[in-house]
Amino acid sequence: MNFCSDNVSPVAPEIMAALLSANQGAAMPYGHDDYTQRLNSRFAELFETNVTVFPVATGTAANALALACLTPVYGAIYCHAQAHIYEDECGAPEFYTGGAKLVPLPGNHGKLNPEILRQTPMGAGVVHQVQPAAVSLTQATEAGTVYTVAEVAAIAEVARAKQLFLHVDGARFANALVHLGCTPAQITWQAGVDVLCFGATKNGAMAAEAVVFFNSDLAQAFQFRRKRGGHLWSKLRFLSVQLEAYLEDNLWLKQASHANALAQKLAQGLIHLPGVNLCHPVEANEVFVELPESLIVALEQAGVQFYRWPDDDSQMIRLVTGFNTSEQEVRAFLALAKQHSLLPV
Ligand SMILES: Cc1ncc(COP(=O)(O)O)c(C=O)c1O
Repeated sequence: MNFCSDNVSPVAPEIMAALLSANQGAAMPYGHDDYTQRLNSRFAELFETNVTVFPVATGTAANALALACLTPVYGAIYCHAQAHIYEDECGAPEFYTGGAKLVPLPGNHGKLNPEILRQTPMGAGVVHQVQPAAVSLTQATEAGTVYTVAEVAAIAEVARAKQLFLHVDGARFANALVHLGCTPAQITWQAGVDVLCFGATKNGAMAAEAVVFFNSDLAQAFQFRRKRGGHLWSKLRFLSVQLEAYLEDNLWLKQASHANALAQKLAQGLIHLPGVNLCHPVEANEVFVELPESLIVALEQAGVQFYRWPDDDSQMIRLVTGFNTSEQEVRAFLALAKQHSLLPV
């Protein structure tokens, strides 16, 4: 049983099959292949508007390269204090933007608060300060919660008033979308999003993320930044074909629905046990719970894999479900948790 991350999952068989079928004969390099050429229209159909799409292999590259198109080198990017771009990308956004500053903001359950954003002094025009350039939110958040359409729109409204572009780190966009039950358009450009990093890796791809620009002016420099940053694959068909297969027959939505449903089962099974506290609403495929130390140790000793969160001393743990997590695994985990929570401490 491994609930460490959705990155522990294998590649979805449909995506592996698509990779194999693309592995025939010659295809023009650097994105001049048929798979890559079809991506803009495939994503335009999905988002019901014209888009400019660039595939990259990692979420970090997607975020950092997208942000680099939104800010000057002396810009400020406002984000949640637990944002992946702020905490977990080893300075890639700062590196790819040429030194823009990430400004962390507080907010409950991993979400940016539009009022806090509105009240944050930004020093526009002050030569001594970095200049407001962009705001970034994560959908689903690092706390496993999901911004509603109204919440994204409220942040976009402040962003517009302050002349900030709006970036979304959608490493778990599919999980967020199936929770919301709205259209991809409603939760992105119609709510004011300028660029979305549309994740696929965590939900079944081998390595593929699509950077989706809703504002084509902002996309102009992306291809050069991607090449300069070493992220333009020569055999780009193998990246693009993953995205195509991911969208085919709504595979992405089916897989995310499955993962979300199992996260719900985990949460529902755990909350009735003594000493268990759910730390964030479970809205996507992640469960954050505080457990008695004895129970955490018992689960660890039973060989269940998960992370204590945010670090090894924590009594909160993070359980992540993926497209390949099985009902049996969830049942077995809950049976173990129940058995050990009933033992005297
Ligand atoms: C919210 C979020 N954004 C971005 C990423 C970056 O993905 P990668 O590890 O592919 O660079 C992750 C990965 O854990 C993530 O959780």
